[in-house]
Formats: sequence, structure tokens, C-alpha cells
Amino acid sequence: NGNGTSVTAGDAAGGGETDASLSEVAVPGGDKLEGADAIEDDAIHLKRRVGLFSGVALIVGTMIGSGIFVSPSGLLIRTGSIGLSFIIWVACGVLSLLGALAYAELGTMNTSSGAEYAYFMDAFGPMPAYLFSWVSTLVLKPSQLAIICLSFSKYAVEAFVSECEPPNSVVKMVAVLAIAVILYINCYSVNLATGVQNVFTAAKLVAILIIICGGAYKLAEGNTQHLENVFKGTTYSLGNIATAFYTGLWAYDGWNNLNYVTEEIKNPSVNLPRSIIIGIPLVTMCYALINISYLTVMSGIELIESEAVAVTFGKRILGVMAWLMPLSVTVSTFGSANGTLFAAGRLCFAASREGHLLDILSYVHVRRFTPAPGLIFHSLIAVAMVMSGTIDSLIDFFSFTAWIFYGGSMLALIVMRRTKPNAPRPYKVPLIIPVVVLVISIYLIAAPIIENPQIEYLYAALFIVAGLIFYVPFVHYAIAPSFMDSVTVFLQLLLEVAPTQSMFD
Ligand code: ARG
Repeated sequence: NGNGTSVTAGDAAGGGETDASLSEVAVPGGDKLEGADAIEDDAIHLKRRVGLFSGVALIVGTMIGSGIFVSPSGLLIRTGSIGLSFIIWVACGVLSLLGALAYAELGTMNTSSGAEYAYFMDAFGPMPAYLFSWVSTLVLKPSQLAIICLSFSKYAVEAFVSECEPPNSVVKMVAVLAIAVILYINCYSVNLATGVQNVFTAAKLVAILIIICGGAYKLAEGNTQHLENVFKGTTYSLGNIATAFYTGLWAYDGWNNLNYVTEEIKNPSVNLPRSIIIGIPLVTMCYALINISYLTVMSGIELIESEAVAVTFGKRILGVMAWLMPLSVTVSTFGSANGTLFAAGRLCFAASREGHLLDILSYVHVRRFTPAPGLIFHSLIAVAMVMSGTIDSLIDFFSFTAWIFYGGSMLALIVMRRTKPNAPRPYKVPLIIPVVVLVISIYLIAAPIIENPQIEYLYAALFIVAGLIFYVPFVHYAIAPSFMDSVTVFLQLLLEVAPTQSMFD
């Protein structure tokens, strides 16, 4: 019975983006019972396979996605100068590192899966934990998918239109198509999804390396003219700086991903903090170098005007090999999107299993053992987001919402230092770190609302409140409207899915 969860986080590390949750939903074909087993009581079956190297790969592979290929121009528009942009790129890395260190304390203190969900449960009780799962299922994960697919599409379409700007409707259509393909892959089989992941992660690293080496070459040639007078035009608006952070932090999102697999890390109290301390500065360094590389071949203004920075970079530096850039970026973003949906399906599955969402969302396909209803549900929301938003508005929407919860985790840490002073903390951060991150997240949430309110923030707030409205009758009092049963049965037959329990009998 040993290899039931044959696709484990250890394998996933190669694929990076897979969000570490593999061993729980991963139900490889082959043996039904083992698959069901693995889903039913994952805690018992998890094996500690993620060592230092895989841990670093998991962090780096998840963080590097679409952001570094689409965010630089948005960030530059918001900051007004190359100098401040660069500072914010590095500051985002530092903030992610500090946040992740606090998560390391939380993750080694409470080693159960679900990261934020588990910490909120411990520190604040079930309602905030429910709210987190509600928001991440309905907002956070689908918007991640939507943003990455839009970035994918932007690069894919850009490759075919040489001079003019690609029409918006085409970009959206291709993004929807990408979501459909990724959904198909993830519903088809877990092995296919992780295979795609591994191949595509390699492409991501190639793209990064090409850009950095190209930039180093140009620098050696003495192309520093765009790196002078770097602070000209700098903004002093605190609201703009906060939204510039949103753009930058998107590229770093995923820094907390190792926390979803604490149960699988070998010697977590050493390897979790260590992977964080190696992985996040590594990503920060890559991003900083890439930003310099971009500026060795184009000016700030050209960077802002470029529809797809990496493509422009490729055209200027790679000559006949210029096609390599859009190809590796589309492949890389496709991989990120695949990994994000994979993780999303698993999150939805876990939360609905706890009775916090609709039952049907925790069901698994009877032959393929993929959490199809959850995957379809996420994809539908993502499609709606693709149709109704732009990359930048979605990133704001995402970052605003995500940082409410990242800030919440900092608060959870601080609260538990008081309420559970004697709980074992194998890794303890200096208290100042979560305090600083909490203060910054309050600033990140408040400044844009105060200075330049966007309708997206209202939507995000309404979503959270709507969650509370559902909580009271359906979760707290567990009232189930009778028509729900027939809806569930109908969907079960349509999608050929069953609750995981039934696989045992
Ligand atoms: N940082 C990634 C990017 O630049 C996005 C990661 C999405 N988050 C996640 N947990 N999968 O595209």
C-alpha cells in the first residue's frame, strides 16, 4: 500500500508551480482504494519527502510565473521612475521574505495543511477560517488563474501580430481557450497535469536565464544610457506607491506555498525556514537582474509602451532567435496557470469537505479521480473574470484581497504569542517581523482605498461580507435547503462524480 500517493510534493518540486498539494488530491490511476485512502485521511499517509532542494524548488517554481513578464511596465507607470520601480521590486522581495519567515513560525507551530485556514482556526476560531476558504475559493484562486491566462494570451497573440497592438477581444478569447485546455488537462488525469507542470517549469527557467544573460552581455557592451537619471519623474503619492506594490507583489505571490506542505517536509523546523531564506532572495535577485536587463535594450518609455516586454527584449537582442522569447513565456505562463488550477481544485475540495462550501465541490470523478466539480467551478469564475477585467484591474483586485489575509496571518501569529505562549515553536521569528509586515499590509489595504478608490475594492469587500451572510444559516446552523439535494444528484450524474467516501464501498 506504500505508493498510494505516488505523485508527491517531492516529485512536484521539479514542477515547482504545483503548489505542493499533490499528495492530497493526487490520486494516480491504478489503484482505486489507495487513491480513496489518500484523499480520506491524508494526514496519516503523508510522507516526509520534501527536502531542502525540493523546498526551494517549490517556492521558486511557484513564485516565478507571469508577473516578471507583464508587471514591469505597470509598475513603472505607477511609480513614474525607473529608480523607484527598482526599489519597489526589491522591497516586494524583502516584504515577501519577512512574511514568509513569519509563516515559517506559523507553519512549524501548526503543521496541519491548509496554511491560513489552519492558523485562523487556531487563533481566531472557525468563522474567520471559513471566510478565508470562502474568499480563496471564490476570489483568490480564480483571479490568479484569470490573470495568468490573460498574460499567457497576451504573449501568445503578440507572437502573431508583429506591429499593431493585438485586439482585446482576441486576447480574451485566447485566454478563455487556455482556461478550457487547462481545465481539460486537470480533469483528465493528475499525472498529465503534473507532467505538464514539470516540462513547463524548465521552460520558465530557460526564459529567465536568456533574459539575464542577454542583459549581462548588453551591459558588458556598455549599454547603460537608460540607467542614468533614474529618479526623474518619481511619484510621491502614497496611494500610487501602494498600487505599485500590488503590481510587484503579484510577481512574488506564492511565497507562502511551502506552508501548504509542512506535513511533508523532512525536518520542517530546519528546512522550512531554510528553503525560505534561500528561495525568496533567489527570486528577488532574478527579478532585479531581469529588470536591469530590460533597461539595457529599451528606455523606460519604450518599456511602458511595449505590449509584451519580454518579446520586445527578444526582438532587440536575439535576432533570428527572437521567437524563443514569446514561446518560452507562453509556455511558462501556461505552466503557472496549470499549477494554479491544480492547487485551486485541491483547496476547494478541502474546504467543502469541511462543510464550508457546497458538498458537490468536494466530489471526485469516479474513474479519473480528479476533483472535477471544484476545477470546473473555479474555471467558470475565472472565465467570468477574464471577460470582465483587465490584467491590471485583476491584479489590484487580487492583491488587495490577498493582503487582507496575509495581514490576518501576521495578526494570528501575534495573537497566539499571547494566547498560546507555551505552545512549542521550533522556529521563532523576532516579533518585530510580523508586526512590520502587519503594519505594511494595513498600509497596502488602506492607502489605495483612501487615495484612489476603485470599484474592485468594493467588490472584494462585498464578497467577504457575502460570505458572512452564508455562514450563519448554512455553516453555523447547517441548514440545507431541500432542493439542494436534487441539484447535487443532478450534477453528480452529469459530471460522473462521487463523494470520496463511497469509493470504499
Ligand atoms: N507569482 C506568480 C506570477 O507572477 C503568480 C503566482 C500565483 N499564486 C499561486 N499561489 N499560484 O505569475
